[in-house]
Amino acid sequence: MNIIETKNISYHYPDGTQALDKVNFQVEEGKIVALLGPNGAGKSTLFLHFNGILKPSSGCIFIDGTEIKYDKKNLISIRQKIGIVFQNPDDQLFAPTVMEDVAFGPMNIGLPLEEVELRVKEALKKVSMEGVEKKPPHHLSGGEKKKVAIAGILAMQPKIMVLDEPTSGLDPKGASQIMGLLYELNREGMTIIISTHDVDMVPLYASNMYIISKGKIIKEGSPQEVFKDVKTIREANLRLPRIAHLMEILEKKDELPFSKPYPLTIGEARKKIKEEFK
Ligand SMILES: Nc1ncnc2c1ncn2[C@@H]1O[C@H](COP(=O)(O)OP(=O)(O)O)[C@@H](O)[C@H]1O
Ligand SMILES: [Mg+2]
Repeated sequence: MNIIETKNISYHYPDGTQALDKVNFQVEEGKIVALLGPNGAGKSTLFLHFNGILKPSSGCIFIDGTEIKYDKKNLISIRQKIGIVFQNPDDQLFAPTVMEDVAFGPMNIGLPLEEVELRVKEALKKVSMEGVEKKPPHHLSGGEKKKVAIAGILAMQPKIMVLDEPTSGLDPKGASQIMGLLYELNREGMTIIISTHDVDMVPLYASNMYIISKGKIIKEGSPQEVFKDVKTIREANLRLPRIAHLMEILEKKDELPFSKPYPLTIGEARKKIKEEFK
């Protein structure tokens, strides 16, 4: 069952820029789906449609089988179902303390104070940020801010979490902590949608992926299916995962017996190399 489905959505910004061109994007419940695309491709614009922050110029969007309507009541209910973590935590965190920030959403929908406190506690625990409740968010590191922003969304207990370039600007450890957390949330049943231009990361986590370029979806499928189409990948100003590129070089330049489909992750490559040289 598709928990999110866009049908032919196009979007023009008020200045006339066409940022989306007839986008069909589907997410099955319970999956991790990646939206891969270079800068300016339309990733953030698409994501802002998922909870009604932007309204398509044409086309429509279905959440859980129901078309998004843009009246206040509907938007409130959609925003409880879908949480968006913006690329820049400074666009998300604005309360004087971490605790108030994470509590903002639950307070806003009028939950009782005990319930709010419980949710804040659980959300901060989930992202391993207990003990910073009293700190101002702007004193935190990039990775910590990202975790607090995620906690703020978790406290709303959404079914779907949408993250716009969740690892950009983080160091490798911070990035893998965030991805580990998303993986765990997904195992517990949350549907996760991630935008990124990090081609190495996508095959590690995503069961399904889309490539967006100049506002258009130009390819979709499993990472294995998508990365087979090297030409389209390169035309979109992207590249193969490094590990696949290495295997391509070993095959083409060194005539070693590796052939397509090239492995996309270290785990897959290790298996293939061991089989070949056993
Ligand atoms: N507020 C805006 N007004 C006009 N054009 C915009 C605005 N925001 C983004 N754009 C343009 O829309 C296109 C898609 O941008 P965006 O969705 O931010 O891409 P991405 O997130 O993939 O980097 C780009 O050409 C960008 O310049
Ligand atoms: Mg963006």
